[in-house]
Amino acid sequence: MPSQADAITVNQTRLRLLQGDITRQVSDAIVNAANSGLMGGGGVDGAIHRAGGPAILEECKQIVARQGRLPTGQAVMTTGGNLKAKHVIHTVGPIWRGGHQGEPELLASAYRESLKLAAESNLESLAFPSISTGVYGYPASEAARVAIGTVIAFLSQGKPPLKEVAFVLFDSRTFAAYAAALSTAAGETGLS
Ligand code: APR
Repeated sequence: MPSQADAITVNQTRLRLLQGDITRQVSDAIVNAANSGLMGGGGVDGAIHRAGGPAILEECKQIVARQGRLPTGQAVMTTGGNLKAKHVIHTVGPIWRGGHQGEPELLASAYRESLKLAAESNLESLAFPSISTGVYGYPASEAARVAIGTVIAFLSQGKPPLKEVAFVLFDSRTFAAYAAALSTAAGETGLS
C-alpha cells in the first residue's frame, strides 16, 4: 500500500503537513486566518491574539487606521509579540457561499499574497493554518486542493528564500484532507 506523503520538496523548499496548534509553531512567521477588521475573533485568530499578546492588536489597529479594512485575499504583517514566531501574517480568506462566488480564486489569493509577503521580507519559514475552513465554512477537501496547489505553484515559479512552508492543521479530519490533497498533487507533479 503506498504511504501517504506528508512532505514534498518544491524547488528546494520543503512543504510539510503537521497536526497541532499553530500558536506553538517555531517559525519566522505564522499566518492568521483573520477578518477584514483585523480586530481579532474566534478560531485561530482568537488563539493567535491570546497567545501573542496586545502588541499584535496594536499593530493591526495602526494598519487599519493607515490603509482601511483588509480586503479578502490580501495580506499584511505584524510582530509575533509573545509568540515563538517572529511575525504574524494576517490574511482574510473568503466566506463559503456555495463555491460560485469566486471563493477558490480568493482563497488562492490569500495564500499567494501571504507567500509573496514572506518572500519579500526574506523569511525562511512560514506556517499556514487551514484558511476559511472553520467559521467561514469552506469545505476542507476543496480548500486543501486550492491551498496545496497554490503553494506548489508559487514555489515552482521562482527561488524564494523560503526553506520551509508548513501547514499546521488543528484536527485529524483537516489533516487527512490536506494529506489527500498533497498525495494527489505529488502524483500529478512527480514531486516527492
Ligand atoms: N492552530 C491551528 N489551527 C487552528 C487553531 C490553532 N490554534 N485554532 C483553530 N484552528 C483551525 C480550525 O480548526 C480550522 O480548521 O483553523 C481553521 C480555520 O478556522 P477559523 O479559525 O474559524 O478561520 P476561518 O474559517 O478562516 O474564519 C475566519 O473566524 O475567528 C474568526 O476573526 C476570524 O472572522 C474570522 C473568521
